[in-house]
Amino acid sequence: MTRFLTTPRPTEEPIIADRDPGAFGFSRRNLLGGLLAGVAVTAVVPSVANAAIIPARKGGATSMANEPFEAVDVVKIGLIGLGNRGMGMLNGWVDVPGTAVTAVCDIRADRATTAADRVAGKGKPRPREYGGSDESFQKMLDTEELDLVYVATPWEFHHAHGKAALLAGAHAAIELPIATELDELWDLVDTSERTRKHLFLAENCSYGRNELTMLKMAHEGVFGDVTSGHGGYLHDLRSLLFADGYYTDDWRRLWHTRSTASFYPMHGLAPIAAAMDINRGDRLETLTATATAARGLADYRERFVPRDHRSWKEEYINGDLVTCMITTANGRTIRAEHNVSQPRPYSRINTLEGSRGIFEDYVGADSTGARIYAEPYHGGDTWRGASAMRTEFDHWLWKDLEGPAAGGGHGGMDYILQWRIVQQMRSGLVPDIDVYDSAAWCAPVPLSVMSLDKGGKPVEVPDFTRGEWKKLRLGLDSTRSAMPAVV
Ligand SMILES: NC(=O)c1ccc[n+]([C@@H]2O[C@H](COP(=O)([O-])OP(=O)(O)OC[C@H]3O[C@@H](n4cnc5c(N)ncnc54)[C@H](O)[C@@H]3O)[C@@H](O)[C@H]2O)c1
Repeated sequence: MTRFLTTPRPTEEPIIADRDPGAFGFSRRNLLGGLLAGVAVTAVVPSVANAAIIPARKGGATSMANEPFEAVDVVKIGLIGLGNRGMGMLNGWVDVPGTAVTAVCDIRADRATTAADRVAGKGKPRPREYGGSDESFQKMLDTEELDLVYVATPWEFHHAHGKAALLAGAHAAIELPIATELDELWDLVDTSERTRKHLFLAENCSYGRNELTMLKMAHEGVFGDVTSGHGGYLHDLRSLLFADGYYTDDWRRLWHTRSTASFYPMHGLAPIAAAMDINRGDRLETLTATATAARGLADYRERFVPRDHRSWKEEYINGDLVTCMITTANGRTIRAEHNVSQPRPYSRINTLEGSRGIFEDYVGADSTGARIYAEPYHGGDTWRGASAMRTEFDHWLWKDLEGPAAGGGHGGMDYILQWRIVQQMRSGLVPDIDVYDSAAWCAPVPLSVMSLDKGGKPVEVPDFTRGEWKKLRLGLDSTRSAMPAVV
């Protein structure tokens, strides 16, 4: 059986043993997705502009990596933010077995009432409503005994809402990004470690079927040494950004007036990071950003938005395409892109490449939308559709949950994310995504600003794990387990 080169790792963690070859006859290898572990990195980056300072842990806090949830029979859930996303996720929080949505909160009290009506309309006990002020969320957290708080407010509130949830004794699932500043990211890491509560990104795309297939193929050696990846969030949001009432108080468009940054690359970055075992044997090390001119939003407004619209007082400064080139400790490169301001079909890219093959998503090669080319199975410089590979490498979550997830948001991955969070909490498992993953995936937001401020020089990505990244451990590539029965 062919084995890929693996370098012994400085870790005491067990490595998952090779498994039997599957139908494709790939040599099944260990958990480590890429094989450059421990290999000295040659000069990938010219010079790093500013070293990231790693603050010392205070008060005897310890790592939350590999920390299981305390098992609970029923997960009591409170929601903060009941706009497009919060209401979109509400059904899933109610429907997953073993949950009780006990409290709902929105600064707009009528939205809390609508959400409570919806829960009651599904035959469940009516959650208590909190709303009417920007302190309502705190009142909810002070009053309720919640196991999980789900935050779907505008980005500027995520840090405050997430931290308050931890301090109130709940775990926190936060929409993207968990925070927008480096000191806020550190604060969430430290607060999670101090309170012993998990805070994590509700990163639904990490549970996408193609993304999880790509992850499994990478971890089983299909691509050989994984050396590079390319992901992003390329979504023409122009009409929604200017649609009155869609983003409450125009919050999302206003970010484009404030800074030049990669606001939201995580949907494409996170699956690449998972396939590369970031924080599980490798880590993001440096980031270099570029930004194009800001043209798309002003051009759209010029053509489609009436002159008396309030947006005409705004100046858009965020580059249409912001690209982050990221290097990893083990010598890999990742290109993470963000573009919501120009006409284009939707894509998160999802490209992974290694010494023996390549996976590319969003190219429409067959019903999966993805294509693949891997030695020695393919030849003739001809792409293959990914469906046969997906049959073999389909993640257990999709095999088990395809039925219940069908019809759910974003092709079912929203439900799979919610099911998995609840299952882990009810079973007392270690979360697939932890505060360190979340901080690393969101760090490009502030780091892209820092790099651009320095004329496009590389900046260091902080090691939020404080050295724990060297230890191999399971993440999204989990082993199958059942949802506990509801008693
Ligand atoms: N993962 C995904 O696929 C996905 C999809 C859409 C949106 N999102 C994320 O979800 C979040 C919300 O986006 P959205 O489109 O729902 O925006 P939205 O404007 O529709 O909803 C935001 C809600 O938060 C409420 N709110 C604002 N301040 C509040 C406060 N202090 N306390 C309580 N409620 C407050 C608003 O009244 C509003 O109802 C964003 O982070 C966005 O990036 C994620």
